[in-house]
Amino acid sequence: MALFRNGNGIAWARRRALVWALFALAFCAAMNIYHYSLQGARGLYLWDKTWLFRILILMGLLPLGLLALSLPLEKIKTKAPSKLLRGFSLVSSFLVSLASLGILAFLIAAPRMGELRKADLNLIDPSIKLESSSRLYDDQEMLLRLSVGSDAHWGTEKTDSNARSNILATIAENKPDLFFLLGDTVETGSSVSQWNAALSDLSAIVPKVPLRPLMGNHDALFGGQYLFKKAFFPEAFSSDSGSPYYYSIETKVATLVALNLPWGTENFDRKQRTWLEEVLKTADPLKPIIVFSHSYFYASGYDDPDLDKPWYDHYQNIPALTPIFERYGVDLVVSGHNHYMEFLEHNEVRYAIVGAMGSKSDPVPAHVSPASKWIAVATFGHVNINITKDYIVVEFKDQLGKTLHEERIRYLPSLESGSNERSPQA
Ligand SMILES: [Fe+2]
Repeated sequence: MALFRNGNGIAWARRRALVWALFALAFCAAMNIYHYSLQGARGLYLWDKTWLFRILILMGLLPLGLLALSLPLEKIKTKAPSKLLRGFSLVSSFLVSLASLGILAFLIAAPRMGELRKADLNLIDPSIKLESSSRLYDDQEMLLRLSVGSDAHWGTEKTDSNARSNILATIAENKPDLFFLLGDTVETGSSVSQWNAALSDLSAIVPKVPLRPLMGNHDALFGGQYLFKKAFFPEAFSSDSGSPYYYSIETKVATLVALNLPWGTENFDRKQRTWLEEVLKTADPLKPIIVFSHSYFYASGYDDPDLDKPWYDHYQNIPALTPIFERYGVDLVVSGHNHYMEFLEHNEVRYAIVGAMGSKSDPVPAHVSPASKWIAVATFGHVNINITKDYIVVEFKDQLGKTLHEERIRYLPSLESGSNERSPQA
C-alpha cells in the first residue's frame, strides 16, 4: 500500500515537473519567435555565436532535459537522485520562465520607454523626387552630389566623437544634394538615450542637409527598429516598395536604390528581390545606378571570434545579389558594416565601403579581397559621390575633408534602341 502511494506520488511529481518544463519551453519559444520576427534581428541568430546568446535560444530545453535525466534514476532503489533532478527541473523551469518573460517584456518595452527628442533635420521622403542643383567643380559640371557615411555608432566610448563631428561638419560645408547614413547610427538600437545623442548632434551640425538614413544591424538590436522608424521614417513618409527599409529614390540624374541588408540576406526575401529586379529593369538606361546598403558585398576583412562567419567577401550577399547587379549594369554599390574605407571592383561593378564615421576601426585585414583596389584602415572619413554627364566621381575624404583617394567611373548606358527598359547583360 505504501509502495502504491509512493508510486502515485512519483507520477504526480513527474507530471508537475513536466507541466512546468513545458511552460518554460513555451515562454522561451515565444520570446525567441518574437525577437526573430523583428526587422533586422534574424541576422543575430545566424551570426552571433557568443555563449550568452546561445543560452537565450536553448535555455528552454534545460528543464525538460533535467526531467528526462531523472526518469532512469526512478528505477533505482534510492529515490533521492531522481527527486533531486526533478527539483532542479522545477527550479530551472521557474528561472527560464522568468528570464524569458523578462526578456520579452524588455524587447517590447525598452524602445518604447522614454521620449525621443524633437529633431531639427531635413529628412528626405523616398517617395518624393529628389531635386538637385548642378554646380561647377574643377571645370566639371556636377549634376548630382551625394555624401555617404556609415557606422557612426553613437552611444559607445569606442567611437571617436571628435572625428564624427568633424565628418559631419565637412559634409555640412559641402552642402550635398543628399546625405546617406548607411546604418549603425547607434551602438544599441533599443537605447532611447543613444538615439537622442545621435539626433542631438545631427540636428546641431547637419540640420539643413537632406538626410536619408538606412538601418544597420546595431540600429535594429533588441527592438531598435521601432526607434529607427520613429527617428528617421515619419508616418507621413512612404516608398515605392511599401517598406521603410528599402526603396528607390528618383532623381533627374541617377537611379538611387537603398537595400535592407542589416547583416546579410536574412531580410532579402522574395518581395525585396522582386522589387529590386523590377526597379533595375525599368531604370532609365541613360542614368547611372547607385545601390546603397548597410552590409557589404566584396570586402577585405578578418575572422571575428564572436561571429560564426567570416567578416569579409560576404558569403550571403555576393551570391544572392551581385549577379543581379551585374545583369542590370549597376555602376556603384556603397555599403558600411566594415569599419574601413575601401574601393573594390568585380565584373565591372564597383564597390565602396565607408564604415568609418568615427567608429573603432576594424583590425588590419587578415584577408584581402581579390577585388580590392584601395583600402584605408584606422582612418576616419566619408565618401562624396559627384555625378557628371559621363562620370561618377568617388572621393574618399578623411575627417577634415582632405581627399585620400579618388575614382572616376565612366558609366556606359546599356541602351537597346527603341526600348525603355534596361537590357540585362549576358
Ligand atoms: Fe558598425
